[in-house]
Amino acid sequence: MQDFSLRGNYVKLEIKQLHVSIEDKEIIKGFDLTIKQGEVHALMGPNGTGKSTLAYTIMGHPKYQITSGDILIDGESILGLSTDERSHRGLFLAFQYPVAIPGVTLANFLRMAINSRNKAMHPEDKATSIVNFRKQLKAKMDLLKMDYSFASRYLNEGFSGGEKKRAEILQMAMLEPAFAILDETDSGLDIDALRIVSEGVNTLSGDNLGVLVITHYQRMLNYIRPDFVHVMYNGVIVESGKADLALKLEENGYDWVREKFGPQEDGPQNA
Ligand SMILES: Nc1ncnc2c1ncn2[C@@H]1O[C@H](COP(=O)(O)OP(=O)(O)OP(=O)(O)O)[C@@H](O)[C@H]1O
Ligand SMILES: [Mg+2]
Repeated sequence: MQDFSLRGNYVKLEIKQLHVSIEDKEIIKGFDLTIKQGEVHALMGPNGTGKSTLAYTIMGHPKYQITSGDILIDGESILGLSTDERSHRGLFLAFQYPVAIPGVTLANFLRMAINSRNKAMHPEDKATSIVNFRKQLKAKMDLLKMDYSFASRYLNEGFSGGEKKRAEILQMAMLEPAFAILDETDSGLDIDALRIVSEGVNTLSGDNLGVLVITHYQRMLNYIRPDFVHVMYNGVIVESGKADLALKLEENGYDWVREKFGPQEDGPQNA
């Protein structure tokens, strides 16, 4: 069977002294993080500290201006690359708020995504046969315990919150990136779905995937064990630790961060 995977193709994602502005307002203010193949990093922090901004910036969203700093994959800057070129370098983002695309079925969307990536990366190869694609899709839907009927529904249209999150992880399962950023994939999932999605991520991760899990809650980290936990506040990482840091946050909230670093600029102070 043709292999779509980019897992293991790239080994290191580095974010160096990154500064990012939106409409001339600085949101990210000197962010440093290195994610290596096989590592799971959790990024936590109060609302409005710039976590999603970071995720979008890594993927190359045009609205976010990088004023200084760099993002590198295996030592090469990706700042000059378009979003699809970044996906060819193994990057994948599961959105906090997935958008609906009426008129495009989930299966067609995935097939187009895979074919266009394969075509760009291996122009000499023939497109995957529909039979082969369907086989892979079924296997990945089984892994995520998704009903096959979802494949023929329009992408995210009328999907429940949890179904949208599962569809995001199905995209990750099909595209098999080298680095996956999961932006609040746990929000909106019921307890069973959280376990199924987490187990799916674990099955897909292992030694050759680097993962950045953005979350507010410890619960997903019970399943996807992070090697490192980082607290983002006011556009920077203010604390890093091991998995127990997430437990400390769950117990104590962020008051200690506010006391130590002052109120968040322009942000919700009690979020
Ligand atoms: N497109 C945009 N236009 C204007 N302001 C924006 C835009 N995107 C983000 N911001 C602002 O940037 C700040 C950081 O937002 P971001 O979504 O990155 O926070 P977050 O850490 O992901 O928060 P949450 O935990 O609530 O998801 C917020 O003050 C937000 O209002
Ligand atoms: Mg966010």
